[in-house]
Amino acid sequence: MIFPAFILFSSFLCHVAIGGRTCPKPDDLPFSIVVPLKTSYDPGEQIVYSCKPGYVSRGGMRRFTCPLTGMWPINTLKCIPRVCPFAGILENGVVRYTTFEYPNSISFSCNTGFYLNGASSVKCTEEGKWSEELPVCTPITCPPPQVPKFAMLSVHKSSAGNDSLYHDTVVFKCLPHYAMFGNDTITCTAHGNWTELPECREVKCPFPSRPDNGFVNYPAHQALYYKDKATYGCHDTYTLDGPEEVECSKLGNWSAQPSCKASCRLSVKKATVLYQGERVKLQEQFKNGMKHGDKVSFFCKNKEKKCSYTEDAVCVDGTIEIPKCFKEHSSLAFWKTDASDVKPC
Ligand SMILES: *[C@@H]1O[C@H](CO)[C@@H](O)[C@H](O)[C@H]1NC(C)=O
Ligand SMILES: *[C@@H]1O[C@H](CO)[C@@H](O)[C@H](O)[C@H]1NC(C)=O
Ligand SMILES: *[C@@H]1O[C@H](CO)[C@@H](O)[C@H](O)[C@H]1NC(C)=O
Ligand SMILES: *[C@@H]1O[C@H](CO)[C@@H](O)[C@H](O)[C@H]1NC(C)=O
Repeated sequence: MIFPAFILFSSFLCHVAIGGRTCPKPDDLPFSIVVPLKTSYDPGEQIVYSCKPGYVSRGGMRRFTCPLTGMWPINTLKCIPRVCPFAGILENGVVRYTTFEYPNSISFSCNTGFYLNGASSVKCTEEGKWSEELPVCTPITCPPPQVPKFAMLSVHKSSAGNDSLYHDTVVFKCLPHYAMFGNDTITCTAHGNWTELPECREVKCPFPSRPDNGFVNYPAHQALYYKDKATYGCHDTYTLDGPEEVECSKLGNWSAQPSCKASCRLSVKKATVLYQGERVKLQEQFKNGMKHGDKVSFFCKNKEKKCSYTEDAVCVDGTIEIPKCFKEHSSLAFWKTDASDVKPC
């Protein structure tokens, strides 16, 4: 029994001889590792702090010896992350980042009209370098556009050699006799293709027919095509209802179908009327009859209130309806006042 007791005792002696107490487990410093890591150290034992990969040390000691006091010296070591080169600017694009330090990633995107040429995100590595080459934003281009059948280029500016840039436009024109269906302008899109091409189709119009009491002129061709024109006119005392010139539309019909309308002969011999806001004498203003579409206002009397009001009459293709309230003034009845001279109601 003496033997084990002796061992215990001698180890105690030994301990005292080296002097004092053991050191505890060393403090945990952010981003560092301790070698060797134990729960306790005898005085004289050494430990080494070093920074984890991706971190570099700043200030302070790295190697410590457990002192007789059993208290590790104050450690001023700091491990700070490595910083990758500045990458906060991407021409024609945006960089999203918090910091450029290990182990963060940053991501990239390009403005519309540009595409990302390279990685969409990179990581700051342990070595303080970006995991991949930084990307660039490259302008999106469209290849030279197709020209639709029966069309030609009207406006085309290519700003990138033979290619066009995003938002560039090209305008087409159809060959004569062809009408455009769709938009004449195409635009280079952010997908690098063009918006839909228009179509050019041949369009014919029938020969216009001669209006009654009038005539029509048009080119003496085999056929009449889109944009061809015809002009109309009327014989004496007839008035054209519609435009003088019509055009063959892209729908294959004429822009209008004018006709000739008869003038109106007046059944009233004398009257003062309103014509285009003016008081005029009917018999003088319309000596040759009223034209189709002419409008006048006749004066009528309100007998009870002893005042006058007006009613309209329009010449429509040879007919005009005189308002029933209108009474033609008789020159014999000189004591009566004409309605046009009575105060308005
Ligand atoms: C444009 O196209 C023409 C003909 O295809 C070619 O000769 C020329 O090299 C091109 N230019 C550029 C800048 O690509
Ligand atoms: C034709 O396209 C252009 C641009 O692509 C657009 O601005 C215009 O409004 C379009 N026109 C019609 C009639 O759709
Ligand atoms: C252009 O490309 C996009 C994406 O590939 C596609 O969705 C679109 O239909 C294309 N436009 C035309 C006019 O071809
Ligand atoms: C031309 O034809 C179209 C379709 O048939 C029709 O909608 C349009 O009203 C016509 N235009 C004229 C001026 O007659």
